Amino acid sequence: MTEFTHLDISRAAKVREEKIAPWVQVSNPKISSEGEFLLPIKPLIDSGVLPPSAEESGSAHDAIGNLTNKISCQHPVLKVIGNKNGIQFSVDRALLIKSVLSKVQEDRDQYGRHSELFSRNKGEKVIVEYSSPNIAKPFHAGHLRSTIIGNFIARLNHALGNKVVRINYLGDWGVQFGLLAVGFQLFGSEAALQRNPIQHLFEVYVKVNQAAEEREEIHRQAREVFRHLEHGDQAALSLWTRFRDLSVEEYSRIYKRLGVQFDEYSGESMYSERSQKVISQLQQAGLLQTTQRGTGVVDLSEDNSMSFYSTVTRSDGTSLYITRDIVAAIDRYERYKFDKMYYVVDKSQEDHFCQLFKTLEKMGHTWADRCHHVKFGRVQGMKTRRGEVVLLEDILTEAQRQMLDNMQQAATTKHMDDPEEVAETVGITAVLAQDFRGKVLSDYKFDWNRALQSKGDTGVFLQYTHARLCSLERESGMSVPASCDPALLQERQALQLLQQIAGFDQAVHKALTDLEPRHILSYTLQLSHLVAAAHRSLKVKDSPNEVAKARLLLFHSARVTLANGMALLCMTPVDRM
Ligand code: ARG
Repeated sequence: MTEFTHLDISRAAKVREEKIAPWVQVSNPKISSEGEFLLPIKPLIDSGVLPPSAEESGSAHDAIGNLTNKISCQHPVLKVIGNKNGIQFSVDRALLIKSVLSKVQEDRDQYGRHSELFSRNKGEKVIVEYSSPNIAKPFHAGHLRSTIIGNFIARLNHALGNKVVRINYLGDWGVQFGLLAVGFQLFGSEAALQRNPIQHLFEVYVKVNQAAEEREEIHRQAREVFRHLEHGDQAALSLWTRFRDLSVEEYSRIYKRLGVQFDEYSGESMYSERSQKVISQLQQAGLLQTTQRGTGVVDLSEDNSMSFYSTVTRSDGTSLYITRDIVAAIDRYERYKFDKMYYVVDKSQEDHFCQLFKTLEKMGHTWADRCHHVKFGRVQGMKTRRGEVVLLEDILTEAQRQMLDNMQQAATTKHMDDPEEVAETVGITAVLAQDFRGKVLSDYKFDWNRALQSKGDTGVFLQYTHARLCSLERESGMSVPASCDPALLQERQALQLLQQIAGFDQAVHKALTDLEPRHILSYTLQLSHLVAAAHRSLKVKDSPNEVAKARLLLFHSARVTLANGMALLCMTPVDRM
């Protein structure tokens, strides 16, 4: 959308158009009434696109003044004003309205993706590893965050034309599987395992841990079973395979409810054997040192002082969490030759990933710098009626139950075909919106009440806005026209809404650049507030036919944009609620 202004700026500043292009923005309609587009100057000077020449004394303020004076407007730019934010451009409104509305009509569910902002980076191979729970252990709020943030990163990259591989790296190996096998003999039930594997394995795990506290014998047996497992013992392995397969099957079912998928269920178990090979490679490369305690370590410090190191073997020579991660990363590179790999894991594992990436680099893997740890903050207080969350399904059930309670009070619920389904969809949207509000790295306190408010900046408000726009279209009794007379959309509310629609690709671009869903979330929230304002003053029904049509097209475009934004945030917009 911003191409309207490029020519004028590029002439005045004597800088090539494509250098200017990424910097022009659609103005925030809430803040600016001085022009539809903004060229912020300071970042341009800072990044060297506009060199501050000597007589321009280098200050942003002077540069704005100088440049504004040099710009001679050419249609469709009608006016330029320099102010403290940069240079504001007013353009021919009729042309702007026409081109925004027709772009939405043309691109529909793709609107926001085909923008000059995304022409670089297209077609990259991107691996996103996320969710990664531990079998038989609680699925805690950290895993939920990893699941939804990872799913967002995967979806965004896919939407913008990158080739994405989604990996779930399960915690499916370790002595706890010996313990689980022993526990299953003592407390397990075949029927319960079939019925509800994740929950049952977790119950067995809790019980056997309690039992092992009193009887050391159980720990000894567990280590024994795990040793058998590591040596490929058939009986041990077949039990383990069943635990894993049944859990994966149930996980996939629950992920589906959440709109989450994976291309690959991998896990630590796949890399335990191959760890030995990596350990000998480290040895041959002279990188492995043995400590007094007998553990194997790699010195990662710059000055060989061991001030920074990673431990890659236990004293008995067996592999550790990080050893398996080293093998997994190498395996992924060999299979996919990725351009980027994101590990979406909570911030408490920051040291682990620093060590992992540095070790890979030391081993000579030049692609180590393509690996990134997307670290996120803690969630406090995610409780359900049953208490602290231990199962992913609990969260979905709770979201649905609470939402259904709220909906029961609304009159429209009676007209729904399937209130349960709507409640689940809207409940999940509420959880997502609450999570995406702040910076990914920030901690936050989970609050069902706040998340489920229908007013204010919540997911319920987004869904409500979408449903309201759907009903407006339904009740208009007209079909949405392909175009309209721009002269009929001159009210302030109409123009602000239009300007917001025009700025969608910018919000998406920001989210892609710093992997923060909040840019798209706050965009959709602001869009919804502008829809509410426009809805109050711009009636469709009972307006003269041509006016009604123009407004209908505007609201329709707002709905398409809202739905696209929600889809990128992994929310499923509802038509009624
Ligand atoms: N299963 C681990 C946990 O729950 C997370 C795995 C993270 N990914 C990795 N490649 N280490 O803590």
